[in-house]
Amino acid sequence: MSLTSIPLAKGSVPGLGHVPRLMRDPLGVLRSMHTEGPVVLLKIGTMPMVYVTSPNTVNEVMVTNAKAFRKGRLFDRVAALVGEGLANANGPKHIHNRRLIQPMFYKERLEGYADVMGVRARALADSWHHGQEIDVNQAMGTYAIETLAETLFAADIGQSAVQAVREDLPVILKNMLRRALAPTWMDSWPVWNEFNRSAARMRSVIDDVITATRASEPSGRPDLLSLLLAARDEEGVGLTDDEVRDELTTMLFAGTETTASALAWALHHLAERPEVEQAVLDEIKTVVGDRPVGFADVMQLPTITRVLDESIRLHGVVTLMRRSTQAVTIGGHEIPEGTEVLISLYGLHRHPDIYPDPDRFDPDRWLPEQVTARPRHHAVPFGAGNRRCIGDKFAWMEATLTLATLLPRWKLTPRPGAKPPAEATASMAHPDRVEMVVHQRDAH
Ligand code: HEM
Repeated sequence: MSLTSIPLAKGSVPGLGHVPRLMRDPLGVLRSMHTEGPVVLLKIGTMPMVYVTSPNTVNEVMVTNAKAFRKGRLFDRVAALVGEGLANANGPKHIHNRRLIQPMFYKERLEGYADVMGVRARALADSWHHGQEIDVNQAMGTYAIETLAETLFAADIGQSAVQAVREDLPVILKNMLRRALAPTWMDSWPVWNEFNRSAARMRSVIDDVITATRASEPSGRPDLLSLLLAARDEEGVGLTDDEVRDELTTMLFAGTETTASALAWALHHLAERPEVEQAVLDEIKTVVGDRPVGFADVMQLPTITRVLDESIRLHGVVTLMRRSTQAVTIGGHEIPEGTEVLISLYGLHRHPDIYPDPDRFDPDRWLPEQVTARPRHHAVPFGAGNRRCIGDKFAWMEATLTLATLLPRWKLTPRPGAKPPAEATASMAHPDRVEMVVHQRDAH
């Protein structure tokens, strides 16, 4: 079986394939590929990569034929960092650990994390002052890391870990994609010194917290680490300390930049669209009033939900990867075992036939009547099927609580003269810088 029935994307250069085209304009390639077909062949050097571009072919890979795939090439390289945490594990190990961990994200647990998030959001709002200039992308990055770390670890023993994660995680995230693409024989080169140091320190700090948490009395607060340590399957088998460390690290990697980017883009777009911002403020006033925002409010704020839906459509996770573990048919094409498959959420979510004028920020696209008018499987910002994001509700709750706490107190405007944020291409289309000025709402 071969890949010859799949059309080769334009612009392939002998020996290099599509690398020059991808290096010139990666996001441009990702968003235009649908014009070449629902299944297209890309070449990274001489390595073929099947690129699925339509809602149906994406769904075939992620849901209907999910059993024929495992995680792809990039994940082999990050295994040294996250071991076989959920995002990296395959087959029976993935099914087993996912079943154990899923209950930590059930409603009754989320309610407990919401209290921690509410305190964090109010502390952030308290920390700003009138006229302050901030890079919102950086501020949300630190905030998301600290918030997740405080939810993961018990308050009394987790402080050193929160501190280490705040310092080391940004270094790791910034370099992770480059590291995944670089060959293994380069791993000890001096250019990786800072990365290697941060990765080693984060692992050892998390190991220390696991040991301390095992030895301590239950904290009474529902931190994720205590829940992971207590989790047991039907046979009474739990996770080893190494597995717990891999799961915590995975959550820190998967759950911080994603949430921070959604928040930073939402604040940027709201500043550009005062009428949307006003609708959000009116809704918060009606639903929440002057009391602190809480868990029960999250579902009662549909305007914020639409703002977040639209921010994540435009700037969410860029691509997902899979590798076929058996021969499988996708979009009518036969794909042999061992083929790398690329899913571009960026391309799907900016498909002009599905989202007219796709670059425009328009939260009304998420009004129920507009959603039902679109084709099935049109939006998968949290993935789909057996590998759908386990932290989707957690992230949603954090982003909603944060916006609903910050916005009534602070108006953010672009810093005069600041360049509009550009999409930095990593795993997320997160902004490079979002330079803004903070104004107290009742100060004139
Ligand atoms: C706006 C925020 C977020 C976005 C857009 C997002 C997006 C995604 C996507 C697209 C996937 C699927 C990956 C794939 O199929 O290859 C995923 C998986 C995952 N996410 Fe998230 N995520 C977010 C927040 C979080 C948070 C807060 C956590 C943890 C607390 C988290 C933990 C995970 C884990 C563990 C997986 C792997 C699940 C599995 O393979 O079983 N994510 N996420």
